[in-house]
Amino acid sequence: MDWHGWHEGYQEHGRLRNRLRTVQDQLRLALDLVPSGPVQIISVCAGQGHDVVGAVDDSDRRSDVQARLVEIDGRNAEEARRRVESADLNGIEVLQGDAGTTDAYVGAVPADIVLLCGVFGSLIDEDVDSTIATLPQLCNARGQVIWTANRAASGLFERASAAFDLYGFALVWTNPADPFGVARHQLVTRRQDLQLGQRIFNFADEQTLVDLGRVKRP
Ligand SMILES: C[S@@+](CC[C@H](N)C(=O)[O-])C[C@H]1O[C@@H](n2cnc3c(N)ncnc32)[C@H](O)[C@@H]1O
Repeated sequence: MDWHGWHEGYQEHGRLRNRLRTVQDQLRLALDLVPSGPVQIISVCAGQGHDVVGAVDDSDRRSDVQARLVEIDGRNAEEARRRVESADLNGIEVLQGDAGTTDAYVGAVPADIVLLCGVFGSLIDEDVDSTIATLPQLCNARGQVIWTANRAASGLFERASAAFDLYGFALVWTNPADPFGVARHQLVTRRQDLQLGQRIFNFADEQTLVDLGRVKRP
C-alpha cells in the first residue's frame, strides 16, 4: 500500500476530506472537555498529521497541547514534521516508528485524547479487539478516543463499537448517517499502567483485507 499517496485524497473534495473535517471537529470538541492545563494527545498511525495539526492550530488550547504522532512511513513522518513546524506547534513530536507496540507510547501516556483514524480497516478482527483492549493503558482517566472505521466494510464499525463497550468506554458521539464512520468514546473504567514490550496490532496484507471485505481491490 502506498501510504504516502493515500493522503492525496485529502486534496480532493470528497469522502476522505469530509472524514478529516469530522475528525478535526471531534478533536476540537474533545479538547473543550479536557480541564485547563496541559493536554496530552497520541495519534496512532498518524500519517501526515493533517487531523491533529489542523485542529490544534486554530485551537485556543494550542499552547497546552503535547502530542506524540507515531507513523512508520518515513515520507509521511517527514511531511507531518514539516506541517508541525510550519504551524509552529512546539509541543507536537513526530515519532517515526511502529505504532503497533506499547513501547511507542513510553513518555506519552496517559493521554487525554487518543486518535485511531484510518487504522481498524487494515487490521484483522482479533487485532481490532486487542487494540481497543489496550487503550486503557494509553488513556488518562476519562480519556477520549477518536476513531474511524468504514461503515461499508462488512461489520467493522459494529465490531469496533462492541469492543469499546466491552473494554470500558462509553460512546460520546457518532453520526450513523455518515458513510465514513467517525466516533468518539470516553474511558469510564479504570485506566491501566502501560505494559512494555506488548504487541498491539500488525497491519494485515492486502489479500487478507480483501478476504475480510475490508477493501475491494483484488
Ligand atoms: C489510512 S492512513 C491514516 C493516516 C492518518 N491517521 C489519517 O487518518 O490521516 C494509515 C497510516 O498508518 C501508517 N502505518 C501503517 N502501519 C503502521 C505501523 N505499524 N505503525 C505506525 N504507522 C503505521 C501508514 O504509513 C499510514 O500513514
